[in-house]
Amino acid sequence: MGVRRPFVAGNWKMNPDYAGAKALTEALGPALAPYLGSVDVGACPTHLHMPSCGPDLRKAGLLVGAQDAYPGTTGAFTGEVSVAMVKECGASFVLTGHSERRHVLMETDALVREKTHAALDAGLGCVLCIGEKIEQREAGKTDEVNRHQLESALAGLDEAVAKERLTVAYEPVWAIGTGKVASPQDAQDAHQKIRAVLAGLFSQETADSIRIQYGGSMKPENAAELLAQPDIDGGLIGGAALKADAFASIVEAAAGVVSP
Ligand code: 13P
Repeated sequence: MGVRRPFVAGNWKMNPDYAGAKALTEALGPALAPYLGSVDVGACPTHLHMPSCGPDLRKAGLLVGAQDAYPGTTGAFTGEVSVAMVKECGASFVLTGHSERRHVLMETDALVREKTHAALDAGLGCVLCIGEKIEQREAGKTDEVNRHQLESALAGLDEAVAKERLTVAYEPVWAIGTGKVASPQDAQDAHQKIRAVLAGLFSQETADSIRIQYGGSMKPENAAELLAQPDIDGGLIGGAALKADAFASIVEAAAGVVSP
């Protein structure tokens, strides 16, 4: 039996256009309704689409997440959208540390830490994404990388805040958008070690209450086996979140691991 309520979130990335985002939003309501009693479900549209899709997503019972947010409220940061602004637009959580931001947009550990703390300090949830690149995995450094990214982003975080609002997403970089997925056992091993790091940073009780999502080519075909692992508490879904039926199948699999 899972002790943690599963949390499955769709990261739409820079994908659907205005009409596509509206259509996806409309389709998600009925597709997900049967499962919302037992699973927390979130969707992260682009910042631009948060005002057009957010109210309907929330009406359908989903949590709205921002894909990114800059620390603070206002200021001279051309092109950025602040934590306060995404909150005003109805976001209840923010993704931080996503591998595309770390490795494509070159975000540093320091900026990931600032964003993580800013989102949590503003009263929002935060899904902190961590994970190793293929060369780090091949060098046997998966756990070391995960530990470093966790310790760096969470240094100085209040335990009560972590317990209430933090989620961790383990997303091996080599599995994102590639169709390659971590085996359930490899993912479980990584999640178990991540939980041990959280226990060291906070306490075992808090570590046991923090949800750890798996992300990286999670699909209807592999979701049930991954989600059945004791330390995999949900998913952060990219490609498969862009089709309501595929996303709903993953959420259904998450609902299936919750004890009646
Ligand atoms: P894919 O599901 O497309 O591999 O993306 C995962 C991801 O990066 C979610 O944040």
